[in-house]
Amino acid sequence: MKEIVLSGIRSTGNLHIGNYFGALRNFIRMQDTSNCFFFIADLHSLTTHPDPENFHKNVKTVLAEYLASGLDPEKSVIFVQSTVPEVSELYTLMNMWSYVGELERTSSFKEKVRKHPNNVNAGLLTYPVLMATDILIHKAHKVPVGKDQEQHLEMSRVFARRFNNMYNVEFFPEPAAYNFGTDLVKVPGLDGSGKMGKSEGNGIYLTDDEKTVHRKVMRAVTDSGPVNPDAPMSEPVQNLFTILQIVSDGEVVRFYEEKYKSGGIRYGDMKKQLAEDICKITLPIRERILEIQGNDKYLDEVVKYGAEKARASASKTLAGVKEIMGFKWF
Ligand code: ADP
Ligand code: TRP
Repeated sequence: MKEIVLSGIRSTGNLHIGNYFGALRNFIRMQDTSNCFFFIADLHSLTTHPDPENFHKNVKTVLAEYLASGLDPEKSVIFVQSTVPEVSELYTLMNMWSYVGELERTSSFKEKVRKHPNNVNAGLLTYPVLMATDILIHKAHKVPVGKDQEQHLEMSRVFARRFNNMYNVEFFPEPAAYNFGTDLVKVPGLDGSGKMGKSEGNGIYLTDDEKTVHRKVMRAVTDSGPVNPDAPMSEPVQNLFTILQIVSDGEVVRFYEEKYKSGGIRYGDMKKQLAEDICKITLPIRERILEIQGNDKYLDEVVKYGAEKARASASKTLAGVKEIMGFKWF
């Protein structure tokens, strides 16, 4: 049996090239070797009370971007969380074997309480229970997550183990975090330090047009030029080389590395090349995003098809749980 890989995607904001090269591109490859589930966590996004229009728009945006990038509804199960009512039912049951104390101790919960003291809703407290439900309902083996989600994943293992022990069964496998091993890349931001991120304002988005990509790259922070080529490269310049290594051909990278070493590099030239190479990858995706966003009929078909496949898998698990727990109809 192929291993089951599951990834949940928060439906907030557009995807930047950090998301693409750091996660999405690996998802696309995994579709050929694993049994993949990719879903949009729209229920999770309700903790922040989006207005109905934005709530819907965000789901549509993320779905279109993932499809345009190469997630394939024929190869993987691509679905929206709320179209699988079995998730909500198992979540109710899972709440019975998760404890308020452990939920209150979760770092993400404590941070939310600190940052948004006026919106400490119960959904926020049980966020990890819903996330564990997402994972366990498909009996996933591997869950690609970033650092900020590791604690939630550990809680999923705790809940799985607790259920198995409580009912003396081997029902749920314990899901493992997965970080793509040697395929893992970290895309730095254009502001000279740190990684590219949505909230940092230092990113290039898959929906950026050619002009915008060029403008952003040309404005990226550098330094005043290599003073001594043997000294360590400054962080902003190192970051540009890192992005170049991700998007450009080896030959291009070597050319600029040589230029740097000889002290004759012109950052403007390198940035121009970098912008062109980014565009080569992102512009075709951008075109597909616009096309898919204009095709509600296709999106509707994808969502229905995904829901059907996800529900088949989810209802099997839910039925198993209920049988173990003693639900019986006379
Ligand atoms: P953001 O909030 O910055 O868009 P998320 O935290 O939602 O990013 O991450 C979504 C996925 O994209 C995760 O798998 C994460 O590891 C990956 N990711 C985000 N930023 C980067 C980056 N700069 N480089 C590599 N991967 C990234
Ligand atoms: N909490 C995850 C995030 O913020 C999204 C998510 C919801 C998820 N359910 C999941 C991720 C299940 C992996 C598996 O990014």
